[in-house]
Amino acid sequence: MLTVSNLNVAYGAIAAVRGLSFDIQQGELVALLGANGAGKTSTLNAVMGFVSHQADALHFAGQDMRKLPVEARPGLGIAYSPEGRRVFASMTVHENLRAGGNQLKGAVLQQRIEQVVQRFPVLKERFAQTAGSLSGGEQQMLAIARALMLEPQFLILDEPSLGLAPKIVSEVFALIAELHADGITILLVEQNVRKSLAIADRAYVMELGQIKQSGTAADLRNDAGVIDAYLGG
Ligand SMILES: Nc1ncnc2c1ncn2[C@@H]1O[C@H](COP(=O)(O)OP(=O)(O)OP(=O)(O)O)[C@@H](O)[C@H]1O
Ligand SMILES: [Mg+2]
Repeated sequence: MLTVSNLNVAYGAIAAVRGLSFDIQQGELVALLGANGAGKTSTLNAVMGFVSHQADALHFAGQDMRKLPVEARPGLGIAYSPEGRRVFASMTVHENLRAGGNQLKGAVLQQRIEQVVQRFPVLKERFAQTAGSLSGGEQQMLAIARALMLEPQFLILDEPSLGLAPKIVSEVFALIAELHADGITILLVEQNVRKSLAIADRAYVMELGQIKQSGTAADLRNDAGVIDAYLGG
C-alpha cells in the first residue's frame, strides 16, 4: 500500500532521515519505533508532504505521491494524527469532528459524526465542551476520531500514547488494535515499545535517521538485544 524508498529529509545541515526504505502492505499495522530525535516524525511529515524531502520512491496505492499536491492526501484515503494531539482547543468536540469531515455536508456529515463517535463513548457526552478543556486522554481520542471522519484506508498516528496515564495508554492501544481489526492499514509511531509490539504485525526500529532493525513484531518482541540496544527497554 505504501512504499518508501531511499527517503532523505534534511533541515539545513541536519540530516534527520538518511536513506530510509520501508513498506506497508494493505491491512497491516506497522510500528515505527525509535528514541527521541530518531527521525520518526520527519519520516511521517515527508510521507504527508509537509517537509521537503528526496526519495527514489514514495508510492501509495499505486500512485506516485511526489507528483501530487499535499492537499491530495485525504482524497487518497490517508489520514494523519500528528504528534502532540493538535486538536482545535477553542472549538468544541463537535466542531473538531466537523473540521475533520470538512468535505462532508448536512445529513451525511451528521451521520458520519455519529458513526465515528460510536467508538468513543467518552466524546459523546462532551460534544459541546471545548477541546482544550478535555483531559489529555480525551484529546487524544478526539484527535483520532477527527482523523477517522473521512473513513481513511490508511491511518498514520504519531505517538498517540505520549504523556498519558497507564490506564489511558491501554485504552488508546486497544482502540488502535480495534481499528486494525476493522481493516484500516496503520502506521504507528511510538516510544512505547512493548505495547506497540504487542499489537503490530511488523516493526521498524530507527536510530539517527536510519533503520537499524526490522522484522515481525513477534520476532522483535523476543529479541531483547534489539530492545536494549536501540530502545532502552
Ligand atoms: N524543523 C526542524 N528544524 C531543524 N531540525 C529539526 C526540525 N525538525 C526536526 N529536526 C531535527 O531532526 C531530527 C529528527 O527529529 P524528529 O522530530 O523527526 O524525531 P522523532 O523521532 O520524531 O523524535 P521524538 O520521538 O522526540 O518526536 C532531530 O535531531 C531534530 O532535532
Ligand atoms: Mg516525533
